Amino acid sequence: MSEPASAPFLLACRNQPSGRVPVWFMRQAGRSLPEYRAIRGTGSILDAVRDPELATEVTLQPVHRYGVDAAILYSDIVVPVAALGFGVDIVSGVGPVIERPFRSAADLDRLGPFDPGAHCPWVQETVRAAVGELGDVPLIGFAGAPFTVASYLIEGGPSRTLARTKALMLGEPELWALLLDRLATIAAAALRAQVEAGASAVQLFDSWAGTLSPDLYERGVLPASARVFAGLADLGVPAIHFGVTTGELLPLLAKAGAHVVGLDWRVPLDEARQRLGPDVAVQGNLDPAVCLAPWPAVEERARDVLARNGGRPGHIFNLGHGVLPETDPSVLERLVELVHGWEVRP
Ligand code: CP3
Repeated sequence: MSEPASAPFLLACRNQPSGRVPVWFMRQAGRSLPEYRAIRGTGSILDAVRDPELATEVTLQPVHRYGVDAAILYSDIVVPVAALGFGVDIVSGVGPVIERPFRSAADLDRLGPFDPGAHCPWVQETVRAAVGELGDVPLIGFAGAPFTVASYLIEGGPSRTLARTKALMLGEPELWALLLDRLATIAAAALRAQVEAGASAVQLFDSWAGTLSPDLYERGVLPASARVFAGLADLGVPAIHFGVTTGELLPLLAKAGAHVVGLDWRVPLDEARQRLGPDVAVQGNLDPAVCLAPWPAVEERARDVLARNGGRPGHIFNLGHGVLPETDPSVLERLVELVHGWEVRP
């Protein structure tokens, strides 16, 4: 396997000087690309990702279109629990929906043991095929963090408050710990399988962790996420830890064991750097909504993010959350050009 260790994205993950600032976009695969809609077909995305040929093509599309510095696997955070038969679908315009939500200890039996090679072999097939086509462009593997996946399993679908999830965490701490432990084992196995198939970095999506106070996060969530990262340490690949509205949690996200911490747009990058210290790389933090504004505004906001990094190594330019579906792809093309043209000066 040609491990592109000198790729700017991987150097930046390791907090090393990378020549240029690497850039990719969360949710770059799927969503806004017309060439995605052209081959996506109808039906659930959970069926689409089971087709390695299609999934490989979707993984490569943004690399070809935008010239980004990394690809991200076309899959979803609920793929492992869906493959285990938990009864999950993804409804367009809604998100993951659970037929029989997690309610009691009996539901733990519906969550494993998880064997990626047996339960969802198409994931590794897609990783192998994509890595074979990507050359020196690294592929990012990913999984949902225990908390965010638990929130879908418990709420039964998207929720603004995550009230049931927090009630279980606080009201049944033993059951909560067992659930997060199961989901940590599943996430670690999923990521390991992707790395073994050729992914050269991983990202753990804890999208909704920012709904928690720091003390609840530290007590109820951090141990499980730390177990995911610890379970991958021997693989030697960089790990990214991401959530939104995590300004107050940033040091804890780093403490879980990630090399890179994802930033949304609510904390200025230089302020986030101060909260994180010099040993952690950062990824983000342009507001995805900015990409819907006229180009001069996009440019001004992007330059502000770049300037706030102050030429330090270990900055991966990205949006603060996923590409919005209505984004004009030509704006992302120009953004990549702008970031690659940015002169790195301390
Ligand atoms: O760049 C990529 O798109 C890579 C693949 C990817 C998908 N989902 C494909 C997808 C990744 C990295 C994800 C992660 C994911 N999935 C997260 C964490 C990231 C985040 O945005 O916070 C979450 C919370 C999910 C759960 C999920 N899946 C949601 C909320 C939705 C949106 C539902 C909707 O239609 O509004 C999905 C569906 C989904 N996953 C799409 C894609 C490309 C939408 C398009 C489709 O169904 O084809």
